[in-house]
Amino acid sequence: MHRRRAPRSVCRTLGTSSKTPRLTMSDPIAALRELLSESRVLEQADDLEHYGRDWTRQFPPAPRAVVLPETVEEVQALVRWACAHSIALVPSGGRTGLSGGAVAMHGEVVLCMERMHRILDFDPVDRVLHVEAGVVTEALQQAAREHGLYYPVDFGSRGSSQIGGNIATNAGGIKVLRYGMTRDWVASLKVVTGNGDLLELNRDLVKNATGYDLRHLMIGSEGTLGVVVEAGIRLTEPPPELRVMLLAVPDMDALMRVFGVLRARLALTAFEFFTEQAMGHVLAQGGQRPFEGEAPFYVLAEFEAPDERAQEAALAAFETAADEAWVVDGVISQSQAQARQLWHLREGITESIAPHTPYKNDISVRVSRVAPFMADMQSLFDREYPDFEVVWFGHIGDGNLHIGVLRPEDMAMDSFTEACGRVTGLLCDVLEKHGGSISAEHGVGLLKKPYLDRVRSPHEIALMRQVKAVFDPHGILNPGKVFD
Ligand code: LAC
Ligand code: ZN
Repeated sequence: MHRRRAPRSVCRTLGTSSKTPRLTMSDPIAALRELLSESRVLEQADDLEHYGRDWTRQFPPAPRAVVLPETVEEVQALVRWACAHSIALVPSGGRTGLSGGAVAMHGEVVLCMERMHRILDFDPVDRVLHVEAGVVTEALQQAAREHGLYYPVDFGSRGSSQIGGNIATNAGGIKVLRYGMTRDWVASLKVVTGNGDLLELNRDLVKNATGYDLRHLMIGSEGTLGVVVEAGIRLTEPPPELRVMLLAVPDMDALMRVFGVLRARLALTAFEFFTEQAMGHVLAQGGQRPFEGEAPFYVLAEFEAPDERAQEAALAAFETAADEAWVVDGVISQSQAQARQLWHLREGITESIAPHTPYKNDISVRVSRVAPFMADMQSLFDREYPDFEVVWFGHIGDGNLHIGVLRPEDMAMDSFTEACGRVTGLLCDVLEKHGGSISAEHGVGLLKKPYLDRVRSPHEIALMRQVKAVFDPHGILNPGKVFD
């Protein structure tokens, strides 16, 4: 008697989903439609283009399909579907990333979380808000305000970035100096691993000393270890009134000296810098120059001003810095509208240079190394980028600089990226000298992948690969991101 095998085309039952469709190996996309419904599987060219890329513009999108799950169970079923068919998934939030972490360029299926955007519940004693991964950052901030509290992680893309993506990249932004990164606000996580299993990590505990904290391993893993489906986000007291001071700084060396003076006297919530060139791009699109004259550098310092004394301290700090000739001009906001105008000069930079499809560096060194690092970097860029416009700005109080190299109009993207890639290799030497990192807050994704081994040891990278294999044994979660 012959043993009869089950025909290969009959596949497995899918997990805990309410639907338990049978899949056929021959038409994986038809199986997807059965899993989710017709309308939540997108295959039109414009959808593939829209959902297949992030704010990094170097990489042409080419996903096979886009899926829009609405429940945790559907995400689990999709992951199991991907395993069964050996099709890669690219977890996708607001796609505001700047390193290509959410780009799908090799026929992957984009796992788009935008329909999972519910704010679930809030516990006023724990001060933890539970949200689905697709909640937009600004909606989370607004929900915090409705509970009389504050979600302090903030950045220019707050209107479209999603909390799941923020967690996947451990997003930083403009208040890290005072409040830390996204990591510092994640009380719990629900994550679907590469097997389709659901992990519930940390359960909002303030203290939990029970071995490895997998929550923190997931944060910043860029969708390579699991799909974040829900998060418990810790909220805090709203800050007192904030004021913004914009200072004109005559030379690079003075920037961190100004930081020293302000930090000693004020409760700083942000310390940002940008160049005259950067401000020029913002002002070209509208807005008012805050000073009559020009200076090569500007510092934007935001500080807590619960009473008049803070304003007096700010003026005294300004005078100290002016006596030393570290600042040559300055303004302090007297209203929220003015504060917003000053912030716009900093927050508008990325958008204002976007038409030049800049090559972006997002680098960091220890705060104590910023001044010598910047001096070395300036020599490097003067030498290597004589013909490109280089725009400097960033979160200098955290030791994090953003450098946008603008593409000359007549230069093809490929040759431009190659030219900038070569200089980034040299920049890695400078970073190595100062003990810095090639990505401070944007992530590795595709863009920084070639340089990972310049800032992480071979041993560390080998361990990372092993960790990936544990959580994603079929290699279906965002393959090719961070490392190959
Ligand atoms: C910013 C983005 C580029 O800080 O991270 O504006
Ligand atoms: Zn930034």
